[in-house]
Amino acid sequence: MFQFSFLEILLYLVFILALLICKPLVQMLLMKMKYGKKMYMIYYPFFGRGIHYKNQIKRYNDIMHFEKMISQENPEVEIIVNNSFMGLTQIFIKPDHIKQILQNQDLYRKARKVFLFGEKMFYKGLVFQEGEDWKLARNVLSKSFEFEQLRARIPLIKKLCEEKFQQVQEKEAIDIINISGNIVGEVITQSFFSQSFKNINGQTFLSELVNVLISIISQYRVAPYRCSTRALIFGEQEFPNWTLSKVEIQLLARLQNIKDILKISIQERQKMQNKPADFLTAYIDTIQQNPKLTEEHAIQQYILLIFAGIDTTSNLFGACCYALSVHPEWQIKLREEIKKQYQTYEQLNSENINMSNLITNFINECMRMYTPVPYLIEREVIKDHKVGDYFLKKNSQVQLCVLANNYDVNKFPNPFNFNPNRWNTQNIDPFLFIPFSTGKRNCIGQHMALMEIKCLLIYLLMNFEVNLEGENHVWTQKFVYTIQNEKFISLKRLAK
Ligand code: HEM
Repeated sequence: MFQFSFLEILLYLVFILALLICKPLVQMLLMKMKYGKKMYMIYYPFFGRGIHYKNQIKRYNDIMHFEKMISQENPEVEIIVNNSFMGLTQIFIKPDHIKQILQNQDLYRKARKVFLFGEKMFYKGLVFQEGEDWKLARNVLSKSFEFEQLRARIPLIKKLCEEKFQQVQEKEAIDIINISGNIVGEVITQSFFSQSFKNINGQTFLSELVNVLISIISQYRVAPYRCSTRALIFGEQEFPNWTLSKVEIQLLARLQNIKDILKISIQERQKMQNKPADFLTAYIDTIQQNPKLTEEHAIQQYILLIFAGIDTTSNLFGACCYALSVHPEWQIKLREEIKKQYQTYEQLNSENINMSNLITNFINECMRMYTPVPYLIEREVIKDHKVGDYFLKKNSQVQLCVLANNYDVNKFPNPFNFNPNRWNTQNIDPFLFIPFSTGKRNCIGQHMALMEIKCLLIYLLMNFEVNLEGENHVWTQKFVYTIQNEKFISLKRLAK
């Protein structure tokens, strides 16, 4: 067969390494020559943006510092290009370009190399579906996510808030994101299945599911060399078993166990005479009319909603708590407003939940400053085209940064000042402030998220004083943009 000397092998390895290091650099320099000052380059050999992010945390305690400062420090920049082991990514930040991309979603598809074992977890779910599959699923789920349908969930959310906050230890640093995450997860599960599931492996079904999802997703951080090299070699194909680590095999077994439980529940529902009016029934009706859809689709759709709904909403609530603790004057203002509008928690209902502009402004300002999703999911270009002056080649990678505009000094004066009152007069470009994205692939869960945040916030402020724990908080990106140390809040019960 092949016979190579040691020297030849060494030379080949050096050649491959040089290719991995030099190719993106040369490509980037050519682009820089073409686009000039309008383009900003972030290049680090091989790992690229990973190293850039580490530096941002080290220097500024904030992984998104660069994005927040770009409108001040480099106002002429329209596109950022960075490298990773997967190649170059072109990041758009200007509202006009974001608009063009979001209005022509058919020219892109969500990048599938991003999540480990995505095809076993949630690639059959709405966020990642494309074309006719997406249209069908979006149609089925949309009805269940309209405010008119969701309003029936308010009593459940209120009950869960009362239950979960009753268990909180006072005056101790607590994990507020975990507490709210449990509430949000239970609401999604009840809305989908109209039931809770038995504990597994000594923890609640939901904690097990979230732990498995987060552990799988974080493998890229835990074992970056193994995961990156394997993705580079096998691309989107399923990884052969011999490339899986022991931890990955165990995680996949736990995932399968969860999926088996969900499958039984779906099969039982299919046989039921009087089905409850929930997401699953809506989905089963569609499965029966459409042979292309399977139980696996329903399972992955649920896992996807857990994945897309819990961390985003609970971290936005975490950001609201952070803002309340560092701006105590807003606790007082909002508490007075809540007293005026609702008097007691029992009086909060679907008729009055959206009544207060002050609460809406406060949440908007938290989303502006600490949006849980600063970047939309990476997209791959399906065919050659131009966005503004920028040529996008088929198979190249594109990202939209939605955070940079939130700190644009011309649109939000003094962007580092927390000022909910700015939303009284804001008349903003619909593509400038898009925490839930916009267009036909906007966030389907936005009404649910805002309804939950309002219920949580009103309960919290009626019952507790919110205090900050610890100093020098580091803002990082886990799955979403968040504070590194989970226990950054303590609560003190208010005297009645
Ligand atoms: C504060 C909370 C939330 C934020 C900031 C948020 C943000 C977003 C964003 C930015 C997108 C667009 C992603 C992209 O195109 O790359 C999105 C899509 C999506 N979100 Fe949310 N989300 C939140 C809560 C929720 C909740 C509670 C659910 C469901 C229970 C949910 C389900 C989805 C789904 C299914 C999509 C994909 C829609 C489609 O492609 O048709 N999200 N979300």
